[in-house]
Amino acid sequence: MDTHSGHRLPVRRAEVIHQLRESGDERAARIVAGLPTDQDGVLDPHAVDRLLISVHTELQRLSEELRVGERLLYLLGPLFAVLRAATGRPGPYRLVDVGCGLGYVVRWLAATNALGTDVELIGVDLDAALVGEADRLARAEGLNCRFVCGNAFDLPESATVYVSTGVLHHFRGPALAEFFRAQAASPAQAFCHFDIAATRLAPIGAWVFHRARMRNPLGRHDGVVSAQRAHSDETLLRAAAVPGIRALLYEPRGTVNPFCTTLRPIIGVRPPLEAPLRRTLGQEARRMVGPEHLTGTI
Ligand SMILES: C[S@@+](CC[C@H](N)C(=O)[O-])C[C@H]1O[C@@H](n2cnc3c(N)ncnc32)[C@H](O)[C@@H]1O
Repeated sequence: MDTHSGHRLPVRRAEVIHQLRESGDERAARIVAGLPTDQDGVLDPHAVDRLLISVHTELQRLSEELRVGERLLYLLGPLFAVLRAATGRPGPYRLVDVGCGLGYVVRWLAATNALGTDVELIGVDLDAALVGEADRLARAEGLNCRFVCGNAFDLPESATVYVSTGVLHHFRGPALAEFFRAQAASPAQAFCHFDIAATRLAPIGAWVFHRARMRNPLGRHDGVVSAQRAHSDETLLRAAAVPGIRALLYEPRGTVNPFCTTLRPIIGVRPPLEAPLRRTLGQEARRMVGPEHLTGTI
């Protein structure tokens, strides 16, 4: 996609295969080699859309099993309570799900109305086919939420809180700190990004889980590659500690049983919000550590 115009660009299958082989991902190269093209070798856009929707539909099942909506709400409920008290205004507040895919999280929050009617729910994704399907599913259930195709940080309206699930590991090198800086530079008050916990068990756990629960070869392969690419606690805390944001990692390595850790969030709040958030979370706040927790390693 052209990130400025939003237009879809033709993608040559041979180029994708070449890039995947260069990066050592032979399995992914074989999967792409099985996709249909036109006579010029350009990937059939409809086949690509169908494939991505099918993989994300299986991914949604995983989100349901891992109770991603409930986990997010567990932190977002107290966070929005703190924001209401801190701003002293009735709202509306705006939650933006960055890289929403089929919009499971946004649709779950809309269906449960768990955050209250003063929180506007928006899912944003660069992929038009996923956004179209998210919108179709939301309309079918008459849900009060919106989906937008584009870059989450180029929206005309800014978010109060940014969230995401399974997106952080896509940002590599300097792009990860850039991702957090864009949120710090916006009027947003906080963010909460869930991603795979980088434990030694994560790749094997992902293999077992995706093998058992997913049918699509791309989904199965991507699950394991994503676990291998999961960011360490140090990398996340270092990247999220940008000026104007207090970075807090929930359930860092060593504090929880690695057999039970799948996804965990990096949270960022404007510094004055940290103390009231800790008070609202009570005992749970002890699970949340700042960069000083890693003294000597970052
Ligand atoms: C692995 S998918 C995760 C989908 C969804 N969150 C889920 O858990 O099922 C990552 C998505 O992030 C989207 N994405 C990455 N950067 C983005 C950005 N800056 N704005 C909007 N979408 C973005 C990609 O298009 C992709 O669909």
